[in-house]
Amino acid sequence: MSTERTLVLVKPDGVQRGLVGTVVAVLERKGLKIVGMKMLHVSEELASRHYAAHTEKPFYKGLVSFITSSPLVALVLEGPRAVEVVRNTMGGTNPSDAAPGTIRGDFGLDIEHNIIHGSDSTESAQTEIGLFFAEDEVVDYSRSIDTWIIES
Ligand code: RTP
Ligand code: MG
Repeated sequence: MSTERTLVLVKPDGVQRGLVGTVVAVLERKGLKIVGMKMLHVSEELASRHYAAHTEKPFYKGLVSFITSSPLVALVLEGPRAVEVVRNTMGGTNPSDAAPGTIRGDFGLDIEHNIIHGSDSTESAQTEIGLFFAEDEVVDYSRSIDTWIIES
């Protein structure tokens, strides 16, 4: 199993609704290791870099205005196939269609207020982690519990 790192954002709606602890708890309970975590107010510049792939989309302006509207919590999570594990745990893009049991499926109703972001590939994870975290803000450490979570 390949260990990966991925970027997760508890978006401004998640923070405003008091869902930070809940979202982080779901991901921690899954077994993923938190190796970076901070709260920040995203600037227009950071938003435009993070959403560079969506520049031409009709919803781009709304996306930038939403992500910069209020603080969010950014995390770097580590684990076997962490990118796909997080994507599956957060559920489909539109919370109305997302499967019950997923974060979006359980906590949202609106595609623009979908609570959580997760990188969609190991390549975007690397780029996005670099956008949100300085090298010394991502921490290397081991957990003794990992021998009970991850086969080694
Ligand atoms: P994310 O990047 O936030 O993890 O979400 P995602 O991969 O599931 O979805 P993506 O296609 O990357 O879209 C980024 C965010 O844009 C908003 N969106 N709005 N109004 C619309 O049709 C629409 N489509 C997408 C969503 O908030 C989505 O998370
Ligand atoms: Mg995406």
